Amino acid sequence: MTQPFTPQQNAKLLPQYSLLRVVDISKDFTLPREGWRRGPTLRAVEKISFDVTEGEVLGLVGESGSGKSTLGRLVLRLIESSAGKIYFNGQDISLLSSRALLKLRSDMQMVFQDPFASLNPRRKVGAALEEVLELHGQRDRNDRQNRVAELLRLVGMPAEAAARWPREFSGGQRQRIAIARALAVNPRLLVADEPVSALDVSVQAGVLSLLRTLQSDLGLTMIFISHDLSVVEVMADRVMVMYLGRVMEIAPTRELYTSPLHPYTAGLLAAAPQAHKKKADRVMLKGEIPSPINPPSGCVFRTRCPYVLPKCEVEVPVLKDLGAGRLVACLRDDLALTAEAVE
Ligand SMILES: Nc1ncnc2c1ncn2[C@@H]1O[C@H](COP(=O)(O)OP(=O)(O)O)[C@@H](O)[C@H]1O
Ligand code: SF4
Ligand SMILES: [Mg+2]
Repeated sequence: MTQPFTPQQNAKLLPQYSLLRVVDISKDFTLPREGWRRGPTLRAVEKISFDVTEGEVLGLVGESGSGKSTLGRLVLRLIESSAGKIYFNGQDISLLSSRALLKLRSDMQMVFQDPFASLNPRRKVGAALEEVLELHGQRDRNDRQNRVAELLRLVGMPAEAAARWPREFSGGQRQRIAIARALAVNPRLLVADEPVSALDVSVQAGVLSLLRTLQSDLGLTMIFISHDLSVVEVMADRVMVMYLGRVMEIAPTRELYTSPLHPYTAGLLAAAPQAHKKKADRVMLKGEIPSPINPPSGCVFRTRCPYVLPKCEVEVPVLKDLGAGRLVACLRDDLALTAEAVE
């Protein structure tokens, strides 16, 4: 009898389908009250919709405050949405009970930015990993210990690391341990939120290449969040550009970096360090990001857009699907942008 394919093999063989579908998701935060007045509402994510295909890496980029982390947390149901739906593997997970959520936790995991904060300093590495396995039903101690050794090997750490304390490891090593912990329960979706931003530049490449290898070897689906375009370029198959809680553009990685369609994307690319080797004095994205409590009317990017027209103040651009995986939210279709177009 032929053996059934593993899920990883399936992911490579079967026609691709959306493992994650997000529909019109929004998130409001109510800020603390000011004196006797009700606190203002901040819309961190505004009606965002997107799909992630099984085995795909979707990159999320945008300046700080654009809602990337909030969106990542919404997807994993670490925070509740204010509106919208999330489907995982075809199932609506927007309204799951806490018991069903525990099962979901083993399908979806997150790697956070700060490896120093994400590991309990009072647990040895092995105990921390075993704890996760136990929580997810692995009762046999021997099995757990074998799995811990396997996980450590998977992330390039020696088995002896299990007997040591988190404080004995560098930032890069701790992030590897955090990745091992996320993988312990065999997730299908991994959300990595700025996983190398807190690390020394010298160790960033190693952790990125580990993530890339694990992703492809395990057939993982990944949402990879970073404010750093060069990091996203290495990791992502497709990129979603966010600004003030809205999607500005979605495109396959190569196309986004070579022919951006949204002025904000072009500005981000022009501002990236590698883009201005020749023109160090290039003027980049101008002005401050407006307050999300009181965002600009019409197109939220209009206060910083070099191509702004009067209509941009009144009309809200919708995310248009131009085909070939390219979507853009701009009222103008007469722009010929390059990665250096915003001056
Ligand atoms: N718990 C919270 N309470 C209030 N405001 C928040 C909270 N979390 C995030 N925000 C606000 O939501 C917006 C988006 O934040 P965030 O998702 O962290 O953006 P990014 O990850 O892109 O930097 C920011 O204006 C931020 O201040
Ligand atoms: S809609 Fe107008 S303001 Fe917004 S990005 Fe396009 S041109 Fe600029
Ligand atoms: Mg963030």
